[in-house]
Amino acid sequence: MHKQGMLRENALKDQTIIVTGGGTGLGRAMGKYFLELGANLVITSRKLPVLEKTKLELEAETGGSVLPVACDVRHYEEVEEVIKTAIDSYGQVNGLVNNAAGNFISPTERLSHRAVSAVIDIVLKGTTNFTLALGKQWIDQQQKGTVLNIVTTYAWTGSGYVVPSACAKAGVLALTRSLAVEWAKYGIRTNAIAPGPFPTEGAWSRLLPGDLQKKFDPAQHVPLGRVGEHQELANIAAYLMSEYSAYVNGEVITIDGGEWLKGAGEFNHLEMVTPQMWDMLESMRKG
Ligand code: HXC
Ligand code: NAP
Repeated sequence: MHKQGMLRENALKDQTIIVTGGGTGLGRAMGKYFLELGANLVITSRKLPVLEKTKLELEAETGGSVLPVACDVRHYEEVEEVIKTAIDSYGQVNGLVNNAAGNFISPTERLSHRAVSAVIDIVLKGTTNFTLALGKQWIDQQQKGTVLNIVTTYAWTGSGYVVPSACAKAGVLALTRSLAVEWAKYGIRTNAIAPGPFPTEGAWSRLLPGDLQKKFDPAQHVPLGRVGEHQELANIAAYLMSEYSAYVNGEVITIDGGEWLKGAGEFNHLEMVTPQMWDMLESMRKG
């Protein structure tokens, strides 16, 4: 069931949605489901050949319309150009998914200031660039819009070894909650999704390089005992981009099988206690 689309047919009909980082991974999966639900899709990232390949695949798989436009989200003029090209092609843009990200693991003291900036600029500046450029357009045109930001669960806990990403995602979460209030009067809703581990080439190759994947199987940290399916995330994304969620604003939906709470709960490690040990503890207590 969780591998199936959950929204009604045509739930996004006549909507045009920009997905940053839409050529690969979770951006591609969300975009594919938006197309299946009747949306037009604009995908953007730095690598045009990747975007063009994804366009051909997604159009063949869904029968929808995909516009690939190359852009580095760190550069505001390029972002403005994507929005202009999208409007020229489809007349208007109704939704934005800020999904593009950069990340890698490293002890923080080993990072150059350029490495820190690379990640913060892609994640935080990229998100503010697209949100500002499109928000201004919507407000000028008195048009409603929906923004969805892809964060992570360590946006609120923080995390060692991915510090630039944690700082940037925390900023994106603050942006989500701030604009949800400030821009609601313009009919602009702003929400976020915080995924736990979902296998993608981009994330896995950078966060679990070499044999780290074998040593630190991400599924083992998840109470539900598995990693996420792309369709599960796409279902929430489509819901948040659709009018079915018209009263949801400023929310962050976590989809991680309970992973971050497992790390947070003081006594959660007691799952290592066997039934025999519990029996022993009980008899000691009764004694
Ligand atoms: C340390 C690194 C590094 C690494 C690059 N740098 N990779 N430092 N460890 N693994 C340093 C470089 O040496 C350089 O500093 C600076 O960072 C900029 O590097 P460039 O290669 O010039 O940057 P750029 O071409 O802009 O590439 C950005 C990138 C790259 C972030 C470094 O990895 C990228 O393009 N990523 C995009 C896709 C991605 O990361 N996807 C994963 C998202 S997963 P110096 O000082 O040498 O000049 C995710 C999941 C979160 O977010 C949650 C999971 C549960
Ligand atoms: P991914 O495939 O590597 O996606 C990242 C995308 O961002 C790529 O398509 C990349 O394309 C694009 N991008 C990177 N830098 C860019 C830039 N400067 N300008 C424009 N586009 C840029 O990884 P993913 O796992 O699908 O991640 C998608 C989102 O989910 C990210 O926000 C990530 O933080 C979040 N997330 C993922 C997981 C997970 O387990 N996979 C967990 C939590 C959160 P180019 O290289 O062509 O630019």
